[in-house]
Amino acid sequence: MPQRRAFLDWVGVRPGMRVLELGCASGAFTFEGGLAERVGPNGQVIAVDPARSMLARAETRRSQLGYNWVSFLQGRAEDLPFADESFDAVVGVAFLHFTDMPRALKEMRRVTRSGGFVGCFNPVSFQQENPFLEHSFLREWFAPLQKLALSRHEDRPRDFLSSPDVIHRHFAEAGLVDIRRTLLESRNLFPEPAKVLDIYIRGVGLFQEELATIPWKAREDLIAELEANGRIVCSKYPESERVVLFPQVMISGVVRR
Ligand SMILES: C[S@@+](CC[C@H](N)C(=O)[O-])C[C@H]1O[C@@H](n2cnc3c(N)ncnc32)[C@H](O)[C@@H]1O
Repeated sequence: MPQRRAFLDWVGVRPGMRVLELGCASGAFTFEGGLAERVGPNGQVIAVDPARSMLARAETRRSQLGYNWVSFLQGRAEDLPFADESFDAVVGVAFLHFTDMPRALKEMRRVTRSGGFVGCFNPVSFQQENPFLEHSFLREWFAPLQKLALSRHEDRPRDFLSSPDVIHRHFAEAGLVDIRRTLLESRNLFPEPAKVLDIYIRGVGLFQEELATIPWKAREDLIAELEANGRIVCSKYPESERVVLFPQVMISGVVRR
């Protein structure tokens, strides 16, 4: 979790703040990422996610830790159940790409007090300097997705992640000011096929836009094909070579009214 902790410092969360966390899932940023500890008992963390199962896991951990300044709530970034200017800061890790970004950022700004900030740490598009499928092991593994893209006369699968420039523009259009951002890369290992599908296809939803172009049965067949390909690729390339640098952005903007 060192990058989540680095984000916490970079974005400027301080003890005693009232912080809203979005897309908290089971609490990777809230707990291991250090958000709850940083804010501490003189502040408050409200962490929101649409997935009830994730929130239940997060709540179990919260009560084991006894962090009574942290609470979890079901909700979506686009429609936040809070009054205007309720928080000093609204932050989140790896959730923005799942949202309707313009609506989500406007809501995040609305619930932040004047002088407070909105900050996100999010994966960004591979199609910039670091094309995902240039790694030969991934080209072989994800060949069925490439074939699908070619059948639609596109040169590569749509990855649906936005570029840092597009995210920056959405921050500005939502009315956030003093926007600053920094790019970094996280080292991601591609372990056994079932885990890769769980993490990248079902979890991160890396190619969900591409997969959404085909009917459900064809999608399931394609995922099965990816799993079979994965077994061949994993027997061919050692684990040390099955590594991809994922581009990420830390971005924040200030609220002024
Ligand atoms: C990859 S997980 C992020 C996990 C966590 N923040 C972390 O630090 O690892 C993405 C989360 O975003 C949530 N999500 C999806 N759509 C959302 C929305 N519209 N608003 C807020 N969260 C959303 C998902 O339920 C999921 O738990």
